[in-house]
Formats: sequence, C-alpha cells, structure tokens
Amino acid sequence: MLEQLDHIERQALSSLQNAQDDDALQRWKVAYLGRSSPLMKAFDQLGSLPKEQRPAIGRRANQVKQALEAAFAERSEALRQAALQHSLQAERLDVSLPGRPLVRGRLHPITQTLRQIYRIFGDMGFQVYRSREVESDEFNFGLLNMPPHHPARDMWDTFHTTTPGVLLRTHTSPGQIHVMREYCPEPIRVILPGMCYRYEQVSARKETQFNQVEGLAVGKEITMGDLKGVLTDFARRMFGQQVRTRFRASHFPFTEPSAEMDIECFLCGGQGCGVCSYSGWLEILGSGMVHPVVLRNGGYDPAQYSGYAFGMGPERIAMLRYQIEDIRYLWANDMRFLEQF
Ligand code: DAH
Repeated sequence: MLEQLDHIERQALSSLQNAQDDDALQRWKVAYLGRSSPLMKAFDQLGSLPKEQRPAIGRRANQVKQALEAAFAERSEALRQAALQHSLQAERLDVSLPGRPLVRGRLHPITQTLRQIYRIFGDMGFQVYRSREVESDEFNFGLLNMPPHHPARDMWDTFHTTTPGVLLRTHTSPGQIHVMREYCPEPIRVILPGMCYRYEQVSARKETQFNQVEGLAVGKEITMGDLKGVLTDFARRMFGQQVRTRFRASHFPFTEPSAEMDIECFLCGGQGCGVCSYSGWLEILGSGMVHPVVLRNGGYDPAQYSGYAFGMGPERIAMLRYQIEDIRYLWANDMRFLEQF
C-alpha cells in the first residue's frame, strides 16, 4: 500500500509537468485529486486495513495529498505568470505616448446665434412660440394686410405648393396671427423663430431657405418707445454695449408706422466701407407698430390694444458678427468653415 502511494505521487508529479494550460491543469486535478482518483480510493480503503497498518498508511496518504495540492498550486501560479509575461510582451503599450485628441462636435454658428437671441429675449420676458412652415396664402399675406393682388406681395418671391392657396412661408410674420388668436385677449410677449423659404436666385447674400426670428408684443399700453427700448437693448447685448443704433422710417403692410433698425458698421466704425456700401450703417431688422387691421385679424380691438413687431434674420446677424462674406458657407457643411466657430 505504501508503495502504491509512492507510485501515485511520482506519477502525479511527473504528469503535472506536462500540463501546459488551464484545461490540462483541471483535467490533472480531476485525475489525481478527484473523488474517483487512486489517491482518494486509497483513503476509502483505509477502513478495511488491519488496525496496526492504518496510522502509517493514513499519514502517508495525507502527505501525498498535501504534496499534490501544493504542487498543483505552484504549477497553476507558474502557468499564470507565464501567461501574464506573454501578454505583457505581446501587447506592449507605451504609456508615455501623447494621447490622440478627440474630435469634439460643436454647435452650428446659426444655432449659436439663435440660442443667444433666445437668451436675450428670454431675459426680457419673451416666450418662444413656434408655428408651421407650410402656410396658407391667407396667413402668409391676407391676414397681414396684403389681400390678393396687393403689390407688396412682390417683396416675397414665393414657393407655392401644388395645392392652391398653400405655400411655404416666406417670413415668420404669419405666426403673429396664430399667437394672437391663441392668446387673445391676454397680453403677448413672444418671439417666433423658424425656417422661411423664398424662390430666390441663390447668391452670396441670398438663399432659398433661411431662419427668421419674429417678435411680437401686444398689450394695452404698448408704444413705439417700448419697441425702440427693447430693440436697442437687444442690439447692445448682441453686438456689444458700445454699438450705435438708428431707426430709419420704412414700410411694411403689417405695421404702421414701420422702421428698420441699423447698427453702426463695426468694420469701418461708421466711416463707410465695402461691407456697409459706404453708408456707415448695417440694416439688421424690420419692425413697427402692429397695424390695426392685423390686430383685428388676431382678435384684438385696436381701440383698446396696441402692439409692436419685428423680424430679423439670424443668418445675416451671424454674417455680420463673424464677418462671413457668403451665406452659402452656412449650408455647405464644410468642416474647415464650421470648425472656426
Ligand atoms: N416679415 C418681414 C420680412 O420678412 C420682416 C418684418 C418687418 C417683420 C417688420 C415684422 C415687422 O414683424 O414688424 O421682410
């Protein structure tokens, strides 16, 4: 029996040296230390041995078991170390290499400009109201005091749809009627941002698709002074506190009186240059007191209510602020252009 144990030990230890990986190790463990291994069988047989032989054989069987367990642990560790060395060699990593910079996305310059406009008017208590891009002729023109065949319609080259009387809005002003009809008789202070469409010859200054931000305030005691105050404050916050502004009489069918606001040309400081057509001023928006007909079309009695409105082009504002000379860059999606903002 003692010899048999010696034999088991020798055979197990030599076979362990052949185990080269985890699977082989596990198979070895089952074969030499598992429940039906010769060693465990020897333990089982202890009870049937003559009493005087039991202590010596039992002691020896325990020694062999401990020796095999120790050898197994040692071999496992050796294989683990070898695998680690191997992967360290194979996957050499130079932690001192400089990292590769991540390409970060950014907001489109028009989105940035729009968000700044929202922030400025938001601070002044204006809510953002959105209305549809596909409009009826009635909302885009008629209710804004331009009945069919009104010559002012020629100011907007229009994309018509195949459905008579349905068109792509040429400006955000029809939103004024939607807001008024929804809010009447409450006071109103909203801006209406959104896409507009015009059947234009595309050029450095004109696109067929562009944003506008409309503004509308309606209440019982609203004056032209409110309009001038709000828009002057807007210009200062948009273009800098030092900016000079002026209001110039103009004409829109939906406002009376009407005015355009100019800012002093920041390229030449008002001296006159190519950008401001040698006038020293840059036009940035149209505005005026809401025409009584328009107020009435929105449901407000012009004898009791008054209001002001304005409309500006964020593309134009962004072009002025960032000195972009061609509007087509804004839609070309050229990363070399967009990454500058
Ligand atoms: N809707 C005008 C346009 O597209 C801009 C405009 C002018 C809007 C005067 C207004 C306004 O609300 O009062 O040219």
